[in-house]
Amino acid sequence: MTLGLATTTHASWTKRALANLDEILVDHAHCEKKAASTALSLVFKYMEHTHFLPVLSTLAREELRHFELVLQHLAARDIPFRRQKPSPYAGRLMEACRKDEPDRLLDVLIICSLIEARSLERMGLLRAAIADPDLSRFYGNLLASEARHRAAYLDLARSILPPEDVARRHEELALHEAQVIAETPPWPRMHC
Ligand SMILES: [Fe+2]
Ligand SMILES: [Fe+2]
Repeated sequence: MTLGLATTTHASWTKRALANLDEILVDHAHCEKKAASTALSLVFKYMEHTHFLPVLSTLAREELRHFELVLQHLAARDIPFRRQKPSPYAGRLMEACRKDEPDRLLDVLIICSLIEARSLERMGLLRAAIADPDLSRFYGNLLASEARHRAAYLDLARSILPPEDVARRHEELALHEAQVIAETPPWPRMHC
């Protein structure tokens, strides 16, 4: 497994992304905004887990900073930020969450780590494939923080349940993620 993922991205995704880079950038901005919102929603929902709060607050700020940076890249290229039909990926991933706590929280944290892992994988592909040196460098600069986010979500998961329980559920949800990403429509999105 790469980055805890059960599958690696097919070369056709990179080809589609390069051919539709404007749409990928707009989607990327939406993804960073959503990542910040998800982290902040966990601060509200699970505030009794006080050790979560500084981790998630830092993570949310970093995602908002990424959002601002993508907006700057859009503006520099005269690409308007606009509403876009989102990939069904994240919504379908969350359908696998169990209902009762702490199972639900465990599943959310693992799914967040898988989304970070898939983003990290694809940002690495963009860094290698994009000809524009400025944009390629931008993707390279994001990799370390997205890797940290993936690890942070897994650390939070291991703080509420034994590592072997986390590992077992991670394996199941990574297979679910692989199926979901394989079934997304072929749109130019970070997670299609
Ligand atoms: Fe980010
Ligand atoms: Fe992230």
